[in-house]
Amino acid sequence: MSKNLGVTVLLTGLSGAGKSTICQVVEKELRMIGRKVEVLDGDQVRQHLTKGLGFSKEDRQENIRRISFVAHLLTRNDVVVLVPVIAPYYQMRDEMRNLIGNFIEVYVNAPLAVCEQRDVKGLYQQARLGKIQQFTGIDDPYEVPLHPDVECDTVQESVAESANKVLNKLNELGYISYYRELVNFSA
Ligand code: ADX
Repeated sequence: MSKNLGVTVLLTGLSGAGKSTICQVVEKELRMIGRKVEVLDGDQVRQHLTKGLGFSKEDRQENIRRISFVAHLLTRNDVVVLVPVIAPYYQMRDEMRNLIGNFIEVYVNAPLAVCEQRDVKGLYQQARLGKIQQFTGIDDPYEVPLHPDVECDTVQESVAESANKVLNKLNELGYISYYRELVNFSA
């Protein structure tokens, strides 16, 4: 397969695991080195491209398929596409990889108890109270990636450390020429 500079980076993990936060830092850094970057964030995309879709298995699949379609178009035009979405099923993640080709799977790992404790959006509490159904990790599955290209442990690592792991993988695979190690940053 001939390789271009475009690549899609899927950041999969539970709600509140830290996907978007890592993305923001990676995005900033990629722009700094002059790369074209787009972010297809689950929460944002669901207000536009996939508006009206819910959280059944079928709707999540459709959500990821549409995101994959756009990510594919961008990737083949040399864009680095960052995709922070839950993407809870093996199958949808594999489909994405197969469609796009230039693809990196990042598992943003934080235990459910930690995500629930963080409860940044207050959704876990609502799910526990039964006000939201089919909430990932509560009454809907999350299939833990078996062979992610990168795993970020957001309990043990700082955001900078997790972002470095992603940037280092992009570098290692030849998508960027990158030398700067992030130490401290203001997000
Ligand atoms: S995915 O499963 O289709 O990949 P996606 O990443 O787009 O999910 O959207 C997840 C976001 O939607 C969560 O971060 C949360 O803010 C919101 N959300 C609302 N309802 C649910 C639910 N039932 N399960 C998971 N996330 C939900």
